[in-house]
Amino acid sequence: MNAGASGFRLSTHGILLRGMLFGKIPNTARTMRALRRNVRSIAPMFLKHLECSACGLEHESSRLQNLCRSCNKPLFAIVDLVAASRTLQRERLRTRDKSLWCYREVLPLPSHVDPVSLGEGGTPLLRAEKLADDVDLWIKDESLNPTQSFKARGMSAAVSMAKYLGATRLAVPSAGNAGSALAAYAARAGLEAHVFMPRDTPRANVVECRELEAHVTLIDGLITDCAAEIARHKAKEGWFDMSTLKEPYRIEGKKTLGYELAEQLNWQLPDVILYPTGGGTGLIGMWKAFDEMETLGWIAKKRPRMFAVQAAGCAPITRAFEAGAKTALEFSNARTIASGLRVPKAIGDFLILDILRKSNGGAVAIKDEEMIRVGREVGAKEGLFVCPEGAACFAALKLLRRDKTIAAGQRVVIFNTGSGIKYLEAY
Ligand SMILES: Cc1ncc(COP(=O)(O)O)c(C=O)c1O
Ligand SMILES: [Zn+2]
Repeated sequence: MNAGASGFRLSTHGILLRGMLFGKIPNTARTMRALRRNVRSIAPMFLKHLECSACGLEHESSRLQNLCRSCNKPLFAIVDLVAASRTLQRERLRTRDKSLWCYREVLPLPSHVDPVSLGEGGTPLLRAEKLADDVDLWIKDESLNPTQSFKARGMSAAVSMAKYLGATRLAVPSAGNAGSALAAYAARAGLEAHVFMPRDTPRANVVECRELEAHVTLIDGLITDCAAEIARHKAKEGWFDMSTLKEPYRIEGKKTLGYELAEQLNWQLPDVILYPTGGGTGLIGMWKAFDEMETLGWIAKKRPRMFAVQAAGCAPITRAFEAGAKTALEFSNARTIASGLRVPKAIGDFLILDILRKSNGGAVAIKDEEMIRVGREVGAKEGLFVCPEGAACFAALKLLRRDKTIAAGQRVVIFNTGSGIKYLEAY
């Protein structure tokens, strides 16, 4: 923040406040509004700018925008970590409310603005003993979020920013859970939600979106067709496109998965992370969080081996990883009951593949029958009714243990990204 400017604003604020206290300026609504405006301008702002994840081009963060204006790739929020560290200290996190907004200084919303929140984040990290397969296995159970999935994290951050920057009509293509989360946060914010989902999206998501008063359009096609439909109409309809990684702040909410995990493991990252990957936003977000935390001096250099877990019926990242490619081809005839993994083409493919390789991780694909079989086993042995996407990670662990890609004794974290209750047709 510009010190000269803030000094001037501070003195204006002081004059107003003193004038009110000593009765020289009447305590009217107008004076209060002026005061509030001043609080706004002196409140610290930790978001510096947006930066293209591919070409590095800087974009200012003060307006609504989607992709890089030069190369059309995702934009990342760059936070002033030096400024953030003045008030955000890892030892003091426990004194803050249990919510992802406890990492407020590294999140994009200016500190004077109230987030659009439904109590997201702060989910449990559970030890799994019966399914551990000779590893030190932990489950990050994201089904306890509002609307029962980790999509709440991204939408809390993104809807907060969209509202702050003046959007009123929000649109999203969704495999199901992102639609539900947008519907909930938009309702909370008093904004319009327009959700485009494939016709065969789990019924729970469709009903939930409608009950939350979102405008729901069912499309005969995949999430990519839903995205294309939004792209065709958004300018005319005045919709702000909330597609994952096509707007810069859902990833900021998702990166708190990484902050929380580090905090829950006492600032020692695990050896391995298994993440059910569709668009890859959580995986990319966690990687960003690890870099930020290292800069903050919160964690060491060591990174977990990151594994993308996909469905055999839609595995563009697994195929590209195995082929040694830098980007992924669109996966044709995508079919899987794990609707969140039915993403035939991810805009962040190059980022996901880079992380998998840099971390000495990998990518695996799991058949639907195996997801359901292992999902039942997780329920019976650990007491969690996991989503098929989460179940796929448990199946992936079996596979990676069998071929010794993951050695015995390693600390492994599985993300159960949502609740099985949303997938009654599949179970
Ligand atoms: C339950 C569930 N798990 C995983 C995913 C994939 O998430 P990401 O886009 O971060 O890869 C989704 C996306 O819809 C989902 O709903
Ligand atoms: Zn660019």
